Amino acid sequence: MAASVQNFSVLRGPAVFKRLYRLHYCSSRRASAKNVVVEAETSVKKDHCETGGKKSFYDLLEERGEQAARSLLISCPSNTCEKKFLKHMSTHGDINKYFFYESFGTYAVVEFAKKEGVFSVLERASLPHLQHEAAVPFKSRLLSLKTDKLGDVPNSQKSIKFLNQTSMPVNDLIKKLSKEDSIDQQLYSLTEAYQLTEENIRLRFLVCSLLKDIAASYFPECSIKPFGSSVNGFGKLGCDLDMFLDLDGISEAAPKQVRAYSLEYQLKRTSTERAATQSILSVIGECVDQFGPGCVGMQKILNARCPLVRFSHQPSGFQCDLTANNRVAMKSSELLYLYGQLDERVRALVFSVRCWARVQGITSNIPGAWLTNFTITVMVIFFLQKRSPPMIPILDHLQKLAGPMDKSTIDGNDCTFVSDLTKVKVQNNTETLEHLLPEFFEFYGNFDFNKLSINIRKGKEQTKTEASPLHIQNPFEQSLNVSRNVNATQLQRFVLLCQESAWLVQQNEVARRSSATGNTPWGLAALLVPLAAATKGKKRGTQTPASRIKGLLESLKSSKSQASNNGIKASLKRR
Ligand code: GTP
Ligand code: MG
Repeated sequence: MAASVQNFSVLRGPAVFKRLYRLHYCSSRRASAKNVVVEAETSVKKDHCETGGKKSFYDLLEERGEQAARSLLISCPSNTCEKKFLKHMSTHGDINKYFFYESFGTYAVVEFAKKEGVFSVLERASLPHLQHEAAVPFKSRLLSLKTDKLGDVPNSQKSIKFLNQTSMPVNDLIKKLSKEDSIDQQLYSLTEAYQLTEENIRLRFLVCSLLKDIAASYFPECSIKPFGSSVNGFGKLGCDLDMFLDLDGISEAAPKQVRAYSLEYQLKRTSTERAATQSILSVIGECVDQFGPGCVGMQKILNARCPLVRFSHQPSGFQCDLTANNRVAMKSSELLYLYGQLDERVRALVFSVRCWARVQGITSNIPGAWLTNFTITVMVIFFLQKRSPPMIPILDHLQKLAGPMDKSTIDGNDCTFVSDLTKVKVQNNTETLEHLLPEFFEFYGNFDFNKLSINIRKGKEQTKTEASPLHIQNPFEQSLNVSRNVNATQLQRFVLLCQESAWLVQQNEVARRSSATGNTPWGLAALLVPLAAATKGKKRGTQTPASRIKGLLESLKSSKSQASNNGIKASLKRR
């Protein structure tokens, strides 16, 4: 049911109208005659260069946030004529970039060169004339294009080029990888197919920026920043959008007054910081739910260890998790980003192992006793720190390289580490991914999880101090275990699958050589065949890895892989 205008007046208290006023009337001069339109680019490599491969995490966030503030999200009729649409938009200002995508309808993201372009559009946009319903007159940068004059292209002659916002189905991926020439190429190819595109990243920042406009009704100096896989370099198309409502700007804005008199704000007191976070999220969540266009299915999960509100943003198709007071997670995202930027093999291995884990049911969308993507990523980083010579440095070393500006203490935890990527010396590890992939599986297939814990700060196993089956020390809150949720059964499945996969990836290399067609899944592709299929229709869990290996061995006999038998026997013996 649509909220009445009377309900909306409740919102007058916070700065809703002031905010709208600002959006409405800040428009400056009309756009110049020579408007420039830069066509949407899809090339991943070019985008990587565009964003400057070695940009620090915070420079990246700032640049992206600034781009998003100059952008609009516009729902378009499916028969929109792209050329006319651009011509129309260009009357408001120079356009830096635009693209179209589909999600419950057709949408365009338009980034102006200057904020004035956005103000100009908003100044001229009108409220819809509703005949049989009421609506909250909340104005935002999510708009609808009305095409009375523009929409003259019949559907059959659609001229819009849509950019894909979802990842390739795994079966198509398997086929694609099977055609690659080497395992190294397979890992890079998977990364390229699954990683977030330039446009998807822009859309993520734009959604944060749109939500910030809503939260700014209450906290004008707040910001909403993406964290997690949206920004850490390991995001897969379709991953959730983790957001952090940052109110730090508010406290930092207050200058210290050294005068006889000074004034301070009266604030409502709460018993704990957690209680304040809960009430902020509850109110912002309510506001997003009631007034945020396109935001549906609001769930308030305020009693979780890290309180959050969860909802879907329909125009982007993103599942959103909004948290507050979660600066450590922001630091973890920065750390993962840094590791991913140091060496291209890191991202390729993490993407591939994450994909393998998802296909084999080691990770899940449903919360539970599974390993999470975050846990898996930390495990890959640890493995790469343990190589000889190490591929990436330990966190303690990154801390030593930190400059004065990098100092960071959050809730008493030292979260300092270098942010300038150029200060981190390139390691001289030259191992191929073809070598590293089975080594990763070997490493964890034989890891003594009963006695040892994983610590990327030290890059060394340590003696376990708690009873959890899997102990991975939180790099910043060192007394915490990031994998405390994982139970013994799930850990055992992970270990068994590692053992099996170490063997399988090597044997499939043999299968590839014997397959002239390139259609047989081999190498990484073979690891992405879901277990149920690999066991010829038998239900998951009804076959032990040993019996599965036996079956696979028999199927491989026909592929004349006599030379490999010694390796297989050795692998079986280890188990
Ligand atoms: P996806 O599965 O693609 O969403 O990966 P993700 O890295 O975004 O993971 P998730 O959405 O579960 O969590 C978002 C971020 O929160 C992570 O990237 C971490 O920075 C942080 N995080 C998640 N789980 C933990 C945890 O158990 N401990 C700590 N310290 N941080 C966590
Ligand atoms: Mg996430």
